[in-house]
Amino acid sequence: MRAISAGRTATFDVCALGCCCWDYLGIIPRYPALDEKVAMSELSMQGGGQAGTGIAAVARLGGRAAIIGRIGDDEFGRHIRESFEADGVDTRWLAAVPGATSQFAFCAIDQASGQRTIFYIHGTKGKFAPEDLDCAALLDCHCLLVDGHHNVAAAAVVRWAREAGVPVVLDLERPQEEDEALVSGASHPVVPERFALEFTGEGDVEAAGRAMLALGPEVVVITRGPEGCLAFTAEGVIHQPALPVAPIVDTTGAGDVFHGAFAYGIALGYELRENLRFASAVAALKCRALGGRAGIPTMAEVREFLR
Ligand SMILES: Nc1ncnc2c1ncn2[C@@H]1O[C@H](COP(=O)(O)OP(=O)(O)OP(=O)(O)O)[C@@H](O)[C@H]1O
Ligand SMILES: [Mg+2]
Repeated sequence: MRAISAGRTATFDVCALGCCCWDYLGIIPRYPALDEKVAMSELSMQGGGQAGTGIAAVARLGGRAAIIGRIGDDEFGRHIRESFEADGVDTRWLAAVPGATSQFAFCAIDQASGQRTIFYIHGTKGKFAPEDLDCAALLDCHCLLVDGHHNVAAAAVVRWAREAGVPVVLDLERPQEEDEALVSGASHPVVPERFALEFTGEGDVEAAGRAMLALGPEVVVITRGPEGCLAFTAEGVIHQPALPVAPIVDTTGAGDVFHGAFAYGIALGYELRENLRFASAVAALKCRALGGRAGIPTMAEVREFLR
């Protein structure tokens, strides 16, 4: 299957609309009880957020990437912008809202498993409305990556993209308003298992995948952490196992990076099976380092890993 947009010229491989966050991440020997202290063995500060980390992955892999998002005009906002620029992500549509604060997260990483617990605050930068967005600029790409952060604007963008024939990789985390419009309008919803079960009300992942596909997407992917992912199409189901890496230092952002790589694979015209394996490799390699972005590989590292 070729990308819907194959042959069309565009300024960017992937444009991403959604959450841009500043993350503090620490590794802890075990999760503490209330009123207890534990010492961290490592501390890192880096950019985060679903769309933000996804688009950083596109740029790290060599893709032409742009972010459409909101930050505050605070110190965290400046770090968010600088980290995008360091990866080569175009930030001309990253809006700093005067007097507002940026989204921030503290992530505690369990040393033994690499699993993360996240505490976050939205900040006061607010959400985009559809009229805030430049439709022509957003669609000037081979694939759009959209998360649920700016949910009302995101639903409008998904509609514009469908009319223009631009594929949309959709990342949703927890059920909220507009989810049904987003899932039915996007060509490629890629969601974690817990979202798929909650959104559809189904008891198992296969039924949830089929129920989401029935809403209108071309492909639905359900990710299951270390168990890999399942892709649902009209032709059937494909299982892609997670690819082994050792040691697993931190799984924070594995899903975000999977989404970015999957969107870039669509922009490159990868066939579905090839793209699932590619995105799984990029997400697995990400888990080698602390934080959502530090471990994102280059294309040369992915090719070497997949050999
Ligand atoms: N421990 C792991 N080892 C190898 N690959 C992993 C591991 N955890 C996740 N992955 C890869 O990342 C993909 C997405 O992971 P997951 O389902 O945990 O996403 P998520 O819940 O959206 O995560 P996040 O929101 O933290 O980014 C998986 O399908 C798998 O390919
Ligand atoms: Mg996720």
